[in-house]
Amino acid sequence: MTRVAAYILGGSGYGGGELLRLLSQHPQVQSICAVSRRHAGEPFWKTHPNLYRMVDGKFEAEPDWSALSEAEHAVVFSAMPHFELAQQLPVLAKAWAKHGLAERLTLIDLSGDFRLDSAAEFERACGKPHPYPQALGTFVYGLPEWQKDKIKGAKRIASPGCFATTIQLALLPLAGLRDLGFIAVSAMTGSSGSGATPGETTHHPTRANDFRAYKVLSHQHEAEITRLLDTEGSTGYSLAFVPHSAPLVRGIFATVQLHPPAALGLTAESLRKRYEDFYRDAPFVRLVEDTPRIVAVVGSNFCDIAVHEKHGNVVVMAALDNLVKGMAGQAIQDMNLGCQFFENAGLGILGIYPG
Ligand SMILES: NC(=O)c1ccc[n+]([C@@H]2O[C@H](COP(=O)([O-])OP(=O)(O)OC[C@H]3O[C@@H](n4cnc5c(N)ncnc54)[C@H](OP(=O)(O)O)[C@@H]3O)[C@@H](O)[C@H]2O)c1
Repeated sequence: MTRVAAYILGGSGYGGGELLRLLSQHPQVQSICAVSRRHAGEPFWKTHPNLYRMVDGKFEAEPDWSALSEAEHAVVFSAMPHFELAQQLPVLAKAWAKHGLAERLTLIDLSGDFRLDSAAEFERACGKPHPYPQALGTFVYGLPEWQKDKIKGAKRIASPGCFATTIQLALLPLAGLRDLGFIAVSAMTGSSGSGATPGETTHHPTRANDFRAYKVLSHQHEAEITRLLDTEGSTGYSLAFVPHSAPLVRGIFATVQLHPPAALGLTAESLRKRYEDFYRDAPFVRLVEDTPRIVAVVGSNFCDIAVHEKHGNVVVMAALDNLVKGMAGQAIQDMNLGCQFFENAGLGILGIYPG
């Protein structure tokens, strides 16, 4: 397969806009369609002005799957709110089968609907029962730095959450170690993390000059993070995650602190080497000195990480763009792996500096 037809559900949102921006530059994407119920019939650029005269196309009111009938392979990105894809999947799957797409379609979900595999875990994390539990476990979790081999060739991929990606990348080289003890995670996100529709706590005037915590010790992404640690065999740890909302538009910055037992030998030098070795072949993770910076990653698919140790106290900091490595960029990285393209195809963009 050399080129694919892409279809975006939820094309008018922030994730949809980033998918349009990045997919339009992707060498292996031959066409892009996108759905928006509110902006049906309007050109993409009216909602996403950065696309003006560069990305042609109009939003469709509902998907027209016949547009994909000639495609050698189709990739459907679902960038709809949580619970939507899970509710729509039975009907969508029937429509794909009717159009002969079942065998030549890769589905990538950007929401949290299929990141966890068990209905009980999902309900604990999200506070509601899963709308379509029969489909749980049919998606591969799309964190390439963790399980790239599983993503390669996968037809259903659940792209990880933005906080979850940042914190998992900060912790991944330590996963599997025993008795890590108390792991304190403090992470902040910009306002685009809440999507394009303003809410009382996410609207710009109410947060532009504010800094506050929310969902303290109860954020739904914690389940993705502890699942990774548990799967890798970590025991004897307790993780406390405090998310913050920061006066930025884009970006996540996570600080992870722990005091592992001396027997683990996690000195400043050994930690640096451990992270360098672990991420040697990861094209989108960069180890930096001192501190990562939001302004160095925004617009790009990079996650920058710094590691420190003093008197046995370990600090790992990670920063990424929630709309790119935390969302659309990672979904495209997943498409590249799922479709057996180069992992970094279409993602060679640098951030903009100063922001
Ligand atoms: N923002 C982030 O940083 C981030 C990061 C990682 C993952 N995510 C997840 O990615 C998904 C998209 O996030 P976003 O920030 O792009 O959200 P958003 O800006 O609110 O966009 C949501 C999109 O879904 C469409 N939509 C809403 N309700 C729908 C329905 N019932 N049926 C079909 N389409 C519907 C909307 O368009 P119309 O109403 O015009 O149809 C819009 O295009 C969410 O599940 C979010 O949790 C977000």
